[in-house]
Amino acid sequence: MNISGSIKETRQQVKEWKKQGLTVGLVPTMGYLHEGHQSLMEKAKKENDKVVVSIFVNPIQFGPNEDFASYPRDLEKDAALCERIGVDLIFHPEAEEMYEKDFCTYVDMDGLTKELCGKSRPTHFRGVQTVVSKLFHIIPADRAYFGQKDAQQLAVIKRMVRDLSMDIEIVGCPIVREEDGLAKSSRNTYLNQEERKAALVLNRSLAEGKKAIESGVREACKVKQCILDVIAKEPLARVDYVEIVDFSAIEPIADLNMAAEGEILCAIAVYIGKTRLIDNFIMKINS
Ligand code: PAJ
Repeated sequence: MNISGSIKETRQQVKEWKKQGLTVGLVPTMGYLHEGHQSLMEKAKKENDKVVVSIFVNPIQFGPNEDFASYPRDLEKDAALCERIGVDLIFHPEAEEMYEKDFCTYVDMDGLTKELCGKSRPTHFRGVQTVVSKLFHIIPADRAYFGQKDAQQLAVIKRMVRDLSMDIEIVGCPIVREEDGLAKSSRNTYLNQEERKAALVLNRSLAEGKKAIESGVREACKVKQCILDVIAKEPLARVDYVEIVDFSAIEPIADLNMAAEGEILCAIAVYIGKTRLIDNFIMKINS
């Protein structure tokens, strides 16, 4: 397995593989890899001849008061995991390699990015779209793998690829959880023991929301209230948002039967102490 920080070298290697008729899968990450990332890498390995993992903590997707500086990093451990899985190349550039001093070109979107995480992180998706576009240009892969853990991100990337006619297939992968239900996240390392227990409220509250929908509730506000009631009982938790949107448009809906393609996304962001965690479920609604 090769590790490269160079755009030129990485592009050359991938082009060489393409010339040989090999298929390439790309897994974009910010590192500090866990079983969530691992599931994407394994799927990529199964479906492609070569797998590239990018590890880059992308400064432009973090807001000024967010955790860019403290975001956990451990390249050695990440490389060992990639090696074990059979990844062929890690692309690990420095920020200067990705963003020249006078960098000023961004990829942005009118829809899909205003709600949910876009509300509290107004420049986040512009940063994500820009870096992912760059990665797609540097690594001309056949497929790229994204987790449903970041459901809005997955929807945004799919829309960007469709709208800009990018020649790459986006593969969505299910959320991987700890045994007790907490969605795996690099940010879980910020939690102390007490907060780690409190963090279970995310999955627990979503389960209540799901139950309500399964029992026939179709008013979004009632489902949201079920979720909020569970979170309110956890003293360490503070809600950023609890929202139900049409998954195809990422626009809030009052009546769950109104989703254009019949699929809703119920997404939450909750602070546990100082750590902001997200979780969600996607559901097909049969009216
Ligand atoms: P990062 O948070 O490192 O996540 C990389 C990929 O792993 C994303 O597609 C994310 O959805 C997926 N992932 C994370 N936790 C997961 C879990 N528990 N189950 C399944 N998949 C999971 O998302 C980013 O990085 C960045 O925004 C990036 C796309 C790399 C752009 O910088």
